[in-house]
Amino acid sequence: MQRARHRFPSGFVFGAATSAYQVEGAVTADGRGESIWDRFCAQPGAVRAGDSGEEACDFYHRFPQDVELMRELGIDAFRFSIAWPRVLPEGRGRVEQRGLDFYDRLVDALLEAGIRPFATLYHWDLPQRLEDEGGWPERATAEAFVEYVETVAERLGDRVADWTTHNEPFCSAWLGYASGAHAPGRSSVADGIAAAHHILLSHGWAVEALRRTCPGSSVGIVLDCWPVHPASDDPADVEACRRVDALRNRLYFDAVFRGAYPEEALEQVAPAAPPIRDGDLAAISRPLDFVGVNNYSRMLVRAGADGVPVEVRAPQGRLTEMGWEVVPDALHEVLTRIHREYRAQRIYVTENGAAFYDVRLHDGRVHDPERIDYLDRHLAAVARAIEAGVPVAGYFVWSLLDNFEWAHGYAKRFGLVYVDYPTQQRVPKDSFYWYRDLLTGRRAAATPV
Ligand code: FCB
Repeated sequence: MQRARHRFPSGFVFGAATSAYQVEGAVTADGRGESIWDRFCAQPGAVRAGDSGEEACDFYHRFPQDVELMRELGIDAFRFSIAWPRVLPEGRGRVEQRGLDFYDRLVDALLEAGIRPFATLYHWDLPQRLEDEGGWPERATAEAFVEYVETVAERLGDRVADWTTHNEPFCSAWLGYASGAHAPGRSSVADGIAAAHHILLSHGWAVEALRRTCPGSSVGIVLDCWPVHPASDDPADVEACRRVDALRNRLYFDAVFRGAYPEEALEQVAPAAPPIRDGDLAAISRPLDFVGVNNYSRMLVRAGADGVPVEVRAPQGRLTEMGWEVVPDALHEVLTRIHREYRAQRIYVTENGAAFYDVRLHDGRVHDPERIDYLDRHLAAVARAIEAGVPVAGYFVWSLLDNFEWAHGYAKRFGLVYVDYPTQQRVPKDSFYWYRDLLTGRRAAATPV
């Protein structure tokens, strides 16, 4: 098996990631309010096999054992998200202390294990009450987000020093409100673009709230970025590619780093338009300490009828179980692009990983050589970007645990740790031991691996 003997600067952060709805379960425990994902999962046909996050990995109750696993893994940092409906069950107003207590205990357990907590404030689980009042297409939802962020920061800000506001605004806005593939399942371009604007606006406002509430902490946002490549050099394919890149990637990066929405994106949503008010773009583009980037693959696009972009499969591509092509160079490309075009001063790879057909064998183990190969080659791509001068400060594997993979339910396993859902038993996969050995080797050598 390959070994990642790539060079990383000292202080480089190696971590693993999860998100609240995907792992916590316990959806009615301790006064948690309903989220849009609880509601969405209850709609017939919305999620594969009728799965939901109702139990997930039961991380809510089992986190002490999972923190032990993290300690054994030897990660420097754990990226997790906080569930808004646990903290403010109605989205605003009444604070549920028991919800905050849970994150308080989790943060203490991490610190006790010598693991740095990286908290994400929104990973797609909007309180249903706010959705009933219009959801992210409404500006009032962005205002409520600030109240939530302040509440969390006041409680955890003495111990959490690394904050990200949102995870992948493209997904929460576009998949949630324009394509309908994710909660809350609306399909309106106007709602999608309004949601994108208010999510970004709430990010900007949250940055200001975090700077005020926890001065000295490090604040950023997590954006997903997949390079978009043309299926051929036909100019129509190249143009289709440019359009997809504008709507999927540049809309978010340009807003956050340049305070402007790209024309090529706006013309695709017209006559709908983001409901911009004076000062919004300045708020959205407040300076950040870092940007987190989630990358898994690339998109290959050709021009369909009337030039409408169509996604295609690479003829020779190796695919993961998600049907995503394995392209380590895609990660290298996004890192260098973000550095070159947006001049981000610090970048974390906040998610990277793969789902494969993992099974537990008679020896009780889960052998996942494809995942090891995937991680190894992607880490090599990160190391190459660093050598080229890109300021990448850390890398988080998605995911620590197999978990609820949104509309795919439990069918897709991304974990370093296999979860046997009926018993909730954790079985570290071969990739867990591979990652552990990589981190141990780095420490033992006391020099970069
Ligand atoms: C990302 C999400 C994360 C997980 C991975 C596979 O888009 O942020 O929650 O589902 O994909």
